[in-house]
Amino acid sequence: GLESRKRPKLITDISSVEGNVCLLDELKNIFEIAITSAYPNLVDPPIVLTLSGNNPKFGDYQCNSAMPISHLLKSMNVSTNPREVANNILNKTPTSPLIERIEVAGAGFLNIYLNKKFAEHVLNCILQYGVRPPPVKRERVIVDFSSPNIAKEMHVGHLRSTIIGDSICRILEFLNHDVLRLNHLGDWGTQFGMLIAHLQDQFPDYKTCSPPISDLQAFYKESKKRFDEDEEFKKRAYSCVVQLQSGQPDYIAAWKLICEVSRREFQKIYDRLDIRIIDRGESFYQSRMDAVVKELKDSGFLEEDEGRLIMWGDPVTHEGIPLTVVKSDGGYTYDTSDITAIKQRVDEEKGDRFIYVTDAGQYTHFVTIDACARRAGILKNSQKIEHVGFGVVLGEDKKKFKTRSGDTVKLIELLDEGLKRSLDKLVEKGRDKVLTPEELKKAQEAVAYGCIKYADLSHNRVNDYVFSFDKMLDDKGNTAVYLLYAVTRIRSIARNAQVSETKLLEEAMKSGFKLEHVTEWKLGKVLLRFPEVILKVANDLYLHSLCEYLYEISSTFTEFYDKCYCIQKDKSGNIVDISYERLMLCEVTAKVMEKCLEILGIKTVSKM
Ligand code: ARG
Repeated sequence: GLESRKRPKLITDISSVEGNVCLLDELKNIFEIAITSAYPNLVDPPIVLTLSGNNPKFGDYQCNSAMPISHLLKSMNVSTNPREVANNILNKTPTSPLIERIEVAGAGFLNIYLNKKFAEHVLNCILQYGVRPPPVKRERVIVDFSSPNIAKEMHVGHLRSTIIGDSICRILEFLNHDVLRLNHLGDWGTQFGMLIAHLQDQFPDYKTCSPPISDLQAFYKESKKRFDEDEEFKKRAYSCVVQLQSGQPDYIAAWKLICEVSRREFQKIYDRLDIRIIDRGESFYQSRMDAVVKELKDSGFLEEDEGRLIMWGDPVTHEGIPLTVVKSDGGYTYDTSDITAIKQRVDEEKGDRFIYVTDAGQYTHFVTIDACARRAGILKNSQKIEHVGFGVVLGEDKKKFKTRSGDTVKLIELLDEGLKRSLDKLVEKGRDKVLTPEELKKAQEAVAYGCIKYADLSHNRVNDYVFSFDKMLDDKGNTAVYLLYAVTRIRSIARNAQVSETKLLEEAMKSGFKLEHVTEWKLGKVLLRFPEVILKVANDLYLHSLCEYLYEISSTFTEFYDKCYCIQKDKSGNIVDISYERLMLCEVTAKVMEKCLEILGIKTVSKM
């Protein structure tokens, strides 16, 4: 209601503002006040604010509330039109140091022009204090990502989950959330029966001497072959599962050994890609599953279905597919461990947000987990499962990503190829002749891993994407290579003028920013949007908008750099004039770009 609505507190004084203010949120607050005082009788009127797009005629931001409000009023038999509404809103808009002026245009748009002084102050703050996160309420966020399966291969799907999940963690950590990075490894299940049986035959002294399994996938294939062909072996495999599940120490030891081999392989990938993650596989929930199953059973949520115990998200409509909580042989499933895991994450981890990064194919699974957890009272009100789904990786032939011989691509080999190709590219450009061997190696790795990550993150994740080294290593267009070059080039501008960061800070204290040229002003305004881009991405978890923003900074910078000199040299190459204000703008641009790249998990280099 009207009385209970808390009026947002507005910024009234430029000097109280720091570099991390979210302009869009402040504008929303301003127009919320304007609209509620112009139309006090409307309950929850629409507050519509957007960026104006590329035409400077429409201002920097727009408030587009007049049209829907006029519509609303007409439906209440008040005769009015959008322009009149827009003017009424304008009359009630409180003055703000953010805004230079507001115009009513066209059918009732309110075009907002930002105040340059304000922008200059914000950029000055970024120069002095660095790129800081916009303030938000701290939350505990559980991010379940990567999550390959033991003894099976870690494939490109897991690579996508790893890259996207890590970047989600990074953005949330940047916002100072309390993030728990979990690797929900597939480390439990009936496949361990045949693996242990095979281990016993191949390495009878496995208890005392660690088995030298170098290729666990081959080991898996061998045991699977025996399982399918040899009745005797199959029987033994089943009894191994029983022994393992009853906690027989020898079997637990064998299971641990096999997991360890897998883990070492996964860790190689994580080290290369600079991924931090905590192992907490399906096995972790074993001890908790009995209790959860009993609880669900006692509350009457489980139904019998051909010997299985299932649970519907909606017991009346039976929409979607039910969870299989207990199999007909009494065993537990992927569903059982996920319903147990969500309970553990709510009750023990005290999570506020629960994020799961897997291929889009598991969408229904997580919808069902959410519905069942809600039904069972595990998830309450606003708590929900957020499934971050993604499409499949395709080869350049637009078919499922495979090697030439039709095998699945081993991730380590893929990363190695990336390294090789990135070195080729650098050598092709003659960089090996100007960089030291250490610098070359750093550049090689930054480019290789950066391009693989960026290619993934820069596409809308719900779509399938085509994996192409040629495309991702292109130095034109929206690629990591282009952006890494852009940042090093910007960094080198001040370096070439031999202006230190301290000197720039001194200059900033003296004169501050002056965004005089149109291209300077344009670049300044793009940089100001950093907080709103971050908040949007942290909310919807679509990282490609951060990539688009990064690319926009880079191209706006180029426009500026084409038009405005930062350093002037005479014919013989001597520096005759330095524009400190512009070097400051370069510095802030580099800082914001570097922060974006850091959030994407991409390392920058000072030379490449
Ligand atoms: N191991 C699963 C797979 O490879 C992914 C697990 C995702 N996390 C979860 N809590 N279910 O598809």
